[in-house]
Amino acid sequence: MEGTGLALMNRTPEPSRAQAAPRQAQARPLFAGLGPLGALPTAPRLARAFTGLVLAGWGLARLTEDCGLIISELTSNVVRAATGPDGQPRYDVHGRLPVLWLRLSSDRAWLWLEVCDNLTPELGVPAPRQAAATDETGRGLELVSALSQDWGWDVFPGNDVKRVWAALA
Ligand SMILES: Nc1ncnc2c1ncn2[C@@H]1O[C@H](COP(=O)(O)OP(=O)(O)OP(=O)(O)O)[C@@H](O)[C@H]1O
Ligand SMILES: [Mg+2]
Repeated sequence: MEGTGLALMNRTPEPSRAQAAPRQAQARPLFAGLGPLGALPTAPRLARAFTGLVLAGWGLARLTEDCGLIISELTSNVVRAATGPDGQPRYDVHGRLPVLWLRLSSDRAWLWLEVCDNLTPELGVPAPRQAAATDETGRGLELVSALSQDWGWDVFPGNDVKRVWAALA
């Protein structure tokens, strides 16, 4: 599984609709990746802790809170999509656990946060909801939008990897 994840991580998505989406994150002066991690309830906390450590190392600790929230929302969305109605992970036809991974990159002007997963788009794609005042859920992507300058999502060629990203100035 690890080999597959690393191969996926190193791929570049097709041009995105948004200019701010990173093309080759690894080519940026600052790059850090985590995963693949099983898309399990433990993943968001680990992803958030990793993000905080990386940002501190890059001298961007002031962004830790906002980025931690964004990463929590994006990874939680993957975990939710990766979990079946019985509460169990949606193993694929080969019995493999769904995975997610993170890419953080910066050119010192912009910071990009990317959360990728290997769930087929048939299981859902990011779609901001119009949460009513009484709704307890449906605000995650709204929060991502509020905390970032831009965000978006795309699917890699072959439909086997989905990426949701947010960019902060
Ligand atoms: N990575 C993803 N894979 C598949 N579907 C996604 C993904 N991210 C988001 N979605 C879809 O987009 C919808 C909106 O996401 P959003 O985070 O705004 O709300 P929510 O997750 O339903 O509720 P909340 O985040 O408030 O707990 C989700 O309900 C889900 O259907
Ligand atoms: Mg959510």
